[in-house]
Amino acid sequence: MTEPDMSTTAGKIADLRARHNEAVIEPEKKALEKQHAKGKQTARERIAQLMDPGSFVEMDEYVRHRTTAFGMDKSRPHGDSVVTGVGAIHGRPVAVFSQDFSTFGGSLGEVAGDKIVKVMEFALKGGMPVVGILDSGGARIQEGVLALGKYAEIFRLNTAASGVIPQISIVMGPAAGGAVYSPALTDFVIMVDKTSQMFVTGPDVIKTVTGEDVGMEELGGARTHNTRSGVSHYLADDEEDALDYARTLLGYLPDNNMVEAPDYTTHFDMETTDLDRELNEIIPDSTNQPYDINEVITRIVDDGDFLEVQPLFAPNIVIGFGRIKGASVGIIANQPSQMAGTLNIDAGEKAARFMRFCDAFSIPIVTLVDVPGYLPGTDQEWTGVIRRGAKLLYAYAEATVPLVTVILRKAYGGAYIVMGSKQLGADVNLAWPTAEIAVMGGQGAVNILYRNEIKKAHEAGEDVHAVRTRLADEYTYNVASPFLAAERGEIDSIIEPAQTRVMIAKALRGLRRKRAELPPKKHGNIPL
Ligand code: HXC
Repeated sequence: MTEPDMSTTAGKIADLRARHNEAVIEPEKKALEKQHAKGKQTARERIAQLMDPGSFVEMDEYVRHRTTAFGMDKSRPHGDSVVTGVGAIHGRPVAVFSQDFSTFGGSLGEVAGDKIVKVMEFALKGGMPVVGILDSGGARIQEGVLALGKYAEIFRLNTAASGVIPQISIVMGPAAGGAVYSPALTDFVIMVDKTSQMFVTGPDVIKTVTGEDVGMEELGGARTHNTRSGVSHYLADDEEDALDYARTLLGYLPDNNMVEAPDYTTHFDMETTDLDRELNEIIPDSTNQPYDINEVITRIVDDGDFLEVQPLFAPNIVIGFGRIKGASVGIIANQPSQMAGTLNIDAGEKAARFMRFCDAFSIPIVTLVDVPGYLPGTDQEWTGVIRRGAKLLYAYAEATVPLVTVILRKAYGGAYIVMGSKQLGADVNLAWPTAEIAVMGGQGAVNILYRNEIKKAHEAGEDVHAVRTRLADEYTYNVASPFLAAERGEIDSIIEPAQTRVMIAKALRGLRRKRAELPPKKHGNIPL
């Protein structure tokens, strides 16, 4: 190939093309071979799949590291170990960084760190979400403290951006050591089954220090973090599924905390529909019989589209996004089909973090309540249900977004208070006629209130079980009746289940311009 004539414009353009080929096109071919051999896509392939076709503009593809230690000066690939830039998702700008495992194992040195910092700062300036695709061996060992320093800078930016722009992490390979804390600081973590792992200390170190034998997948694989630790919010089947989930998720979110989430109003029926009327059949006659709360949620949100978040962790509470009359809402709902919908530490923390995300980004919250109380047990008490359970109270109490609560069935004790009660700050509180609102359930109350009567019935040889059931039913009918709560104004109205969708839509319409202020403070001190 002839050398371009650099004294001419045509020559300079030809030179640019040759350099672009050397910096991007040729390395991409090598990356493709290496990554595909591991069943993974390249950093650029992932970006292309995430973004709207043809929208991605790459930045810093010509940067090169300056390290000379350990013979590093012999290999100075363009762009280093991360691809960064800005593209569009559903036509809205989104910044991205995607670590390239085929270059130095995606490890983060000074210039790779600088690239990530630059694109994050660009996202903050431009008020757009940032998506990080992680596939990295962690801090670049050859660069020592410079690499560690860059991580610190990224963590600081993650924190500064928290509550300002949505941040999503998609883990598509290893994320080891302190590197895990960048995703942990972001709003949503998506992991790919079998090919992604996150851990602070790996299996070898664990074996040496504690003697425990544990494999990489069991220790920090996608399934572990989706079911046990709660670190991850979605378990993707494969890379395509992970990227699709991120795209769908972003569709519910605003670009930043100063603008509203996009409105997708199509047709909204303000009259009761046949689907609405099916809600009248949902609650079983027997108060202890479970049902699936998703049957309710999908009949309330537009087109039945509900994007569940963290479905595999603490399934006794359901969280996720839907739309009502075209506008995004966050749903928090007890799940009676899992542990009877009781609240425990995991459920409280899961819902509290979701609630704070929605509040930071002005997404109204709809709470659906069917909760018999807190899960009893020493395990819960000793692992801090008091301290950690307080997070959900705190999150509701400090939220300033519109809050609409519907009590479907049980709402007992502290769990009634925490699940968006009126006095905690909810704006509109509705109840179905099947609601039971009291300090405790009928059986528990009868054991305390009617101890003597039960004793006497026992001594008189009566059927104690029947007596207890009769008293409990009376208690539930008279004391736990939602009409008592409505009489006191703790419930704004009691509605037929079939009216729920339209009533929520009307409540949210009334709250569209809600103004609420907290007293001036540097920041609160949420129990952590
Ligand atoms: C420099 C690295 C690297 C690193 C991997 N490589 N990790 N280079 N620094 N941290 C290089 C390898 O030398 C290799 O180079 C290439 O990347 C691919 O790595 P392999 O080991 O061949 O890949 P694989 O078998 O898939 O194993 C992946 C891995 C393993 C599990 C991630 O590479 C690994 O254990 N790496 C070290 C992980 C680690 O301990 N990192 C530090 C964590 S502490 P060649 O040239 O052979 O292709 C940390 C601190 C952050 O990150 C602190 C923040 C506060």
